[in-house]
Amino acid sequence: MKNKQLFHQKYGPRALVAGASEGLGAAFCEELAKQHFDLVLVARRAEPLKELASRLSAEFGTEVTTVIGDLADPETLKNILHVMQSRDVGLLVYNAAFSAIGEFASLPIAQLNQSIDVNIRGPVTLVHGLVSTMRKRTGGIVLMSSIAGNQGAPNVAAYGASKAYNTILGQSLARELKPRGIDVAVCCAGAIRTPGYQLANARQGKTGEAPGTLSAKAVARTALNALGRKPFVIPGCINRIAVFVLGRLLPRRMATWLMAKATKKLETTHR
Ligand SMILES: NC(=O)c1ccc[n+]([C@@H]2O[C@H](COP(=O)([O-])OP(=O)(O)OC[C@H]3O[C@@H](n4cnc5c(N)ncnc54)[C@H](OP(=O)(O)O)[C@@H]3O)[C@@H](O)[C@H]2O)c1
Repeated sequence: MKNKQLFHQKYGPRALVAGASEGLGAAFCEELAKQHFDLVLVARRAEPLKELASRLSAEFGTEVTTVIGDLADPETLKNILHVMQSRDVGLLVYNAAFSAIGEFASLPIAQLNQSIDVNIRGPVTLVHGLVSTMRKRTGGIVLMSSIAGNQGAPNVAAYGASKAYNTILGQSLARELKPRGIDVAVCCAGAIRTPGYQLANARQGKTGEAPGTLSAKAVARTALNALGRKPFVIPGCINRIAVFVLGRLLPRRMATWLMAKATKKLETTHR
């Protein structure tokens, strides 16, 4: 965030991070707490969320509200909308995602529907809730997307498709919402060293230090820096090259084949 004061003026005083307790979500919270934002944190597991809330309060004096619940559950979304409206949230970061890993035909339909609930219904509901009540002030929205949403992504087909949805939703809204003073940034990430990534790659012996993987902190900073500057950002030079090669140089069939090779060894990591 190049001009920290302006950033806080535009999007503060309070941010909501959906999927906040660890990895990239926690990195977003920490970056925002450093910028003196108060926070609303959402995740399913109470313990890690409370630990993070206590740490941010102690280190930065952040006022933290927690919402414990599953973003796939309409009741959780209703609670979040209520908190969002009553606590004057100016910035929404939708970070949580569910990835159903495996052959599409073999996956239980419940898992495929969960990717729609967490990765599509969740952001649509919260973004709509924010923008429809935020008429008299400026605000910001960050949607986490993935390179998996830029071409076919066999073995994570529903996840990849849901990320494509976020990529298009965010870029469309960046234009639509500009006149209302609301900035939108889509962050299209490659591999990030988070607990989720490390679990999904455990069998391959990857420690998360593979070339091209980025720290959660670097990705959170890049995404927040893009707000008000770019509607779409790809963190990391290697990822920008990969997106260029996959999307512009290679035929689609070849790009999808390469993605299939990358996703073939991923493991299910559902909690
Ligand atoms: N990691 C990567 O390599 C990578 C690559 C490209 C894109 N991305 C994108 O980056 C974002 C973060 O992914 P990540 O896997 O690295 O996760 P993360 O930020 O390390 O952790 C996910 C957070 O979301 C919460 N969460 C997950 N499902 C939830 C649900 N149904 N309801 C409420 N909270 C939920 C988790 O806490 P609880 O478990 O307690 O709910 C956790 O705090 C995702 O949008 C993903 O698509 C990640």
